[in-house]
Amino acid sequence: MFNSKITGIGHYVPDTIVTNHDLEKIMDTSDEWIQERTGIKERRFYKPDEKGSTAKMAYKASLMAMERAKVTADDIDAIVFATLSPDYYFPGSGVLLQDMLKMGTKPAIDVRAQCSGFIYSLSIADQFIKTGMYKRMLVIGSETQNIALDMTTRGRGMAVLFGDGAGAVVLERTEEKGKGILSTHLFSQGEYADALCIREPGTNSSGKIAYEGIDEKHELIHPQMDGQLVFKNAITRMPEATMTALAANNLTPDDIDMFLPHQANLRISQMVQRFLKLPDEKVYNNIQKYGNTTAATLPILLSDLWEQGRIKEGQLFALAAFGSGFTWASALIRW
Ligand code: UT7
Repeated sequence: MFNSKITGIGHYVPDTIVTNHDLEKIMDTSDEWIQERTGIKERRFYKPDEKGSTAKMAYKASLMAMERAKVTADDIDAIVFATLSPDYYFPGSGVLLQDMLKMGTKPAIDVRAQCSGFIYSLSIADQFIKTGMYKRMLVIGSETQNIALDMTTRGRGMAVLFGDGAGAVVLERTEEKGKGILSTHLFSQGEYADALCIREPGTNSSGKIAYEGIDEKHELIHPQMDGQLVFKNAITRMPEATMTALAANNLTPDDIDMFLPHQANLRISQMVQRFLKLPDEKVYNNIQKYGNTTAATLPILLSDLWEQGRIKEGQLFALAAFGSGFTWASALIRW
């Protein structure tokens, strides 16, 4: 069995910054409410006139990750692509990226695990590399979420939370023991599928959106969430998954050099931090400037830290995510 390690990290966020004050102009909300409840100050929105956004942003993040890993698309054996906001209903965005990168007939796997999508994808790529089937893979999280949000007062409970962006890592085979992805732990609980979802277009109902009467279909075509239920589960499941990962590797929270929680709400991150008894310098959050970018969140956090020179050889990173599905997951990485 081989190990896999991250050799390059990249990200891309759209240029358009939408502040809480911008939102105040189009819906009944306030900077104070948003910051107090979520920590978010601003987010990025992809402009609606720029077509093909999820795959295009992934392309830009991938180029950065490959450049930093000093490889080209010719060196990549396969793509694993996580998103809840694909460019098409089908096929997934993985093949669109595969085409943009001119990867011939190499495979692209699409993953639908929402906020846990990046760790799920990392886990899938890790298994392919461990078994020796592939040597080097691109793992992507990319989201264009603003187009699904209801940007009126009716949709304010969700609209203020999300942002757009993409992150990518190059994962490759290493024979170094004790380095790279130490473990991934994945969980789901489908009984809560309706607690955070967009129902249409889906085969459970009409299978297609009928434009007639679309205004009355607010509950179906925009994201819906039982915020407090999601909150309660997030603050228990993320520490639980992190403790499971640490125990599986005979480690404790004291061994963590950097903890990266999925960025759904700064209050959630702070509660998870308290549960794990981690000091502020060992936890990194950037929700203040990007909002919740779902599957893109963790690779954007990683890329931010990489750019700040805060990823050092030998450090132990713990990643945890929770979201729609419910799905949740953790990963331990030794650099
Ligand atoms: O990435 C997926 C995972 N997602 C999460 O983990 C999110 C988990 N949930 C949360 O973070 C929180 O539940 C929210 C931040 C989404 C909401 O906070 P909350 O404290 O649960 O607020 P609430 O939904 O109970 O709403 C409280 C009040 C309501 O007004 P009333 O009924 O008390 O008069 C809402 O209508 O705040 C109102 N409200 C708003 N006010 C201003 C809801 N959204 C807004 C808004 N601006 N954007």
